[in-house]
Amino acid sequence: MSDQQSKAIAKSLVPEYIRELKIYQAGKPVDELAREKGLTKITKLASNENPLGPSPFAIKEMTTGLWNLHQYPDMHAYKLKSALSKLYSLKMENIILGNGSEGIMAYIARAFIGPGDEVLTSENTFIGFYIIARSVGAELKMVPLTNDYRFNIDKLIQGITEKTKVIYIANPNNPTGTYIKKEEFDKLMTKVPNNVLVVLDEAYFEFAKAFQDYPDSMDYRYDNVLTLRTFSKAYGLSGIRVGYGFGNENLITNLSKVKLPFEPNLIAQLGATSALNDSPHLERTLKNNEKLHTKTFDFLTEKKFKPIKSITNFITWKTGSEEASNFLFQELLNRGVILRPLKANEMPDYVRVSIGTKEEMNHFYEAMNEVLPMYDKKYGRVEL
Ligand SMILES: Cc1ncc(COP(=O)(O)O)c(C=O)c1O
Repeated sequence: MSDQQSKAIAKSLVPEYIRELKIYQAGKPVDELAREKGLTKITKLASNENPLGPSPFAIKEMTTGLWNLHQYPDMHAYKLKSALSKLYSLKMENIILGNGSEGIMAYIARAFIGPGDEVLTSENTFIGFYIIARSVGAELKMVPLTNDYRFNIDKLIQGITEKTKVIYIANPNNPTGTYIKKEEFDKLMTKVPNNVLVVLDEAYFEFAKAFQDYPDSMDYRYDNVLTLRTFSKAYGLSGIRVGYGFGNENLITNLSKVKLPFEPNLIAQLGATSALNDSPHLERTLKNNEKLHTKTFDFLTEKKFKPIKSITNFITWKTGSEEASNFLFQELLNRGVILRPLKANEMPDYVRVSIGTKEEMNHFYEAMNEVLPMYDKKYGRVEL
């Protein structure tokens, strides 16, 4: 068969909205980078992971669990759901689990969204959700962020139409680290029709919860709100892919119908359950982040950048141009520090750094101190 014929077959089989999607580009693996650049020390500050790693108890439980890998996992994930329901005083019927919170986003798309439905969200937010919504043929409607880089609630309210099916809000937002406040969430909910689903993505909840005006969605009981959270960030378990969602029982039941039965897998269930029970590890994580977040924010400010105020485990700042972002990214890469340039989030003139350990952040500060004299000559600073 000729290439042309096989392309024609794919074209007839694959809906246009899938053909138009772009394949997700992950960052370069650390080992590959080390080989290519001849580096011995690599500090990855690009994916907002927990620099302290997983809870030691979770590692122990998961290691023991390896002996049971010939068996299917508990499809009801009883232990993990019980631990979550105890922690948040919820019924098990209100909880859905999945392969990361992105796994649950995929269930949401499968269960609730179809071709032609409108999904309303913001520009410059988590691109995983854009891809998932487009993969089921949804029409993405995006409103700009506010001038201070936050979800613009007034613009979202104005954007609601009869076709709106889902409103997606990342709170706090990635890649800006900003958040909508309680009063803004209340205002939005007075305007959202009951037949529109609000997906509140709280991937960075654990970092944000100490802020008084942050709306912890557990304090609300709306029948059309689904909250998503994850073990990938503060719990340090990105590698095993576990996320959880809370919502009214009728929504959760319908999501469960399209869920793959044995997600999360056996090891993931064990790891997540023990991570939830290891609150000292979570405390250490939050303390490390708090201290080094402030230090890194001050470092960037001292260097005359204007970092965006973030309540998460990452900080984003403006470089002023895509070229300046790429320069910073490449020069830090040459010194073994991996940042995240934000072109994919339509913020090519910004870069993001995740908060690591003290040693990792020292590596970042040193590399920045080496690079900045060159950077200054080429680009200087921009006004925000
Ligand atoms: C806002 C937001 N939501 C969801 C995710 C994905 O999380 P998970 O690993 O649970 O799929 C991320 C990961 O970076 C994120 O930043």
